[in-house]
Amino acid sequence: MPVYNLKVNGQSLSVEADEDTPLLWVLRDHFDLVGTKFGCGIGQCGACTVHADGVATRSCLLKVSVATEMKITTIEGLSKDISHPVQQAWKEIDVPQCGYCQAGQIMTAAAFLEQNPNPNREEIRDAMSGNICRCASYNRIEKAVEQAAS
Ligand code: FES
Repeated sequence: MPVYNLKVNGQSLSVEADEDTPLLWVLRDHFDLVGTKFGCGIGQCGACTVHADGVATRSCLLKVSVATEMKITTIEGLSKDISHPVQQAWKEIDVPQCGYCQAGQIMTAAAFLEQNPNPNREEIRDAMSGNICRCASYNRIEKAVEQAAS
């Protein structure tokens, strides 16, 4: 199997894998970065969202062979000590219920606010609409994104 060199959370890491292996499984199974979650595996739920060159990206659909050319950030690398404004707002508003989707939600929100630092509620709803929450904590998610932006 080929070896791929990746840049993840500012570190250079190598993995031996099939070229089609989804980045999600490389992160979780090889690099022990288990904050990134598996939900559907087909790009529908957003649980596996990471940043690839700053863009919110579904790691279940990104092949390791493509990811080698990108700067990858996972929830573990978003900030030191959970100090990113989105993480702070998440804590203050107490967003999670079961918590499973939250890393993906936070990564989507963080990338979105980089692009649009002053969104209105509709823009937030639209940006977050691809991230599914089975506990339906959408109202708190939107509030937290709004708070992180202010
Ligand atoms: Fe990747 Fe659902 S696990 S979008």
